[in-house]
Amino acid sequence: MHIAVVGSGYVGLVAGACFADLGHQVIVVDNDQAKLAALKAGEVPIHEKFLPELLRRHRGRNLTFSDDLVAAVRASDAIFVAVGTPPTEQGEADLSYVESVARGISGAINGYKVVVEKSTVPVYTSDWVRKIILRNAAAPDSFDVASNPEFLREGTAVTDFLYPDRIVVGADSERCASVLRKVYEPMTNGSYYQKKGAIPAPDRVRIPPPLIITSAKSAELIKHASNAFLAMKISFVNAVASICESVGADVQQVCQGIGTDGRIGPRFLNPGIGYGGSCFPKDLMAFRAVARECGYEFRLLDEVMRINEDQRQRFLRKVRTALWTLRGKRLGVLGLAFKGGTDDIRESPAILLVQALLQEGCQIAAYDPAAMDRAREVLNSKTEFVGDPYEAASGADALLILTEWEEFAALDLDRLFQQLKYPIVIDGRNLYQPDAMAARGFTYYSVGRQAGTPVAPAEGAAAGKIKKS
Ligand code: UDX
Ligand code: UDX
Repeated sequence: MHIAVVGSGYVGLVAGACFADLGHQVIVVDNDQAKLAALKAGEVPIHEKFLPELLRRHRGRNLTFSDDLVAAVRASDAIFVAVGTPPTEQGEADLSYVESVARGISGAINGYKVVVEKSTVPVYTSDWVRKIILRNAAAPDSFDVASNPEFLREGTAVTDFLYPDRIVVGADSERCASVLRKVYEPMTNGSYYQKKGAIPAPDRVRIPPPLIITSAKSAELIKHASNAFLAMKISFVNAVASICESVGADVQQVCQGIGTDGRIGPRFLNPGIGYGGSCFPKDLMAFRAVARECGYEFRLLDEVMRINEDQRQRFLRKVRTALWTLRGKRLGVLGLAFKGGTDDIRESPAILLVQALLQEGCQIAAYDPAAMDRAREVLNSKTEFVGDPYEAASGADALLILTEWEEFAALDLDRLFQQLKYPIVIDGRNLYQPDAMAARGFTYYSVGRQAGTPVAPAEGAAAGKIKKS
């Protein structure tokens, strides 16, 4: 099939590359000339597993990049709109980019087209996109508007795209649904998974994935409701973690106990420093705004957001508990991205915490495997960016773990101990076990678990080390 994807951000670029891997002919359109030039020159603008491989495989063959929306629409059966939908000051989704793309598509229609919302948009957007395209003189039967929400997590976006739990297609006519069925056919008939060179399947996936056909409005709501539910799950477990801390229970044991109930499930039950990213914070606000417009005060969402904010404040209190005063303290920081596996720092709780600590007068030495270039643009010059976790720990009063990168869960603890001025680790992502850390000589704080305090030095792996004062 011939496909256009408008917007080459995290979502559009991954979708375009994956459609090309499914065997389609894809044009990715963007109006950012610098981004286009980089993509055409073979650069990969975001850190995303398997994306460099897919771009190498298809760039210049069945995956091309262009700023010409009209030509791309003319050449395509389906046009996926993946431009940003940032929040307005009032928390609603700003749909002006979507509207401007819809206008652009309208003048280019030269045969039946399916215009597909891929960006997360409020319910009713499909109605508006249809109105805008009609207003700009397209014939009513020359196009349909569908909603095909993405459920990609950054860091695992390529495998999430190719091995989804489900594909949701919101289409209001059979003609429209059949175009989208064809787009995803290599996945739903299983042929992609048998292909040589297919991106390898992650553990425990359902192959082939089911395709769920709904109305466009239901699909729009599915996206907002899914993200709100996942954020609610995280806030719920963060609230439970706070109770665990107060009563001396262990949130990991509690989560194992509740997550094994099939009705609840174990995923998205990791407590931490709160959710961030370009989706949950913005989508919760937008969903609340949509509900309010419909006359429903979705107060549950207010509470989900409040717990999320509070989680960062609780972490700051932990740093104070560990260090007493903060001014002039040197802190090693591991992780700046909003989650592991990505270079994205949008709404990153790690960045917000570093900013708060800088304001308190701390000196920060930060390391992140992928997000340091982006972080440099938003953190002030007082932040020192270093080359590895041990350099971050070097001479620090404490080490903070703020992002769940896999490599942070496999540190050489003896080396870390040697580097730190005081062996204090404050882990916002629960990557280590309190007892094991205590046995190694660390004072270890985490989320929803009791602090680990060092056992007698003779028992510690780093036994006998006298800390520099
Ligand atoms: C996407 C979705 O758009 C958003 O709704 C979803 O919730 C999260 O993911 P993302 O891919 O992260 O956003 O956005 P971004 O990285 O901002 O990329 C958007 C791209 O669209 C940019 O490259 C921008 O240059 C391009 N764009 C924007 C256009 O080509 N035309 C426009 O009119 C506006
Ligand atoms: C999310 C949705 O998961 C995805 O379906 C949607 O399409 C886009 O938004 P993303 O924001 O990329 O994806 O990452 P996700 O893995 O959902 O993590 C979001 C935030 O929640 C991160 O800050 C992460 O650290 C945090 N998180 C996630 C937790 O604190 N605990 C968890 O158990 C899971």
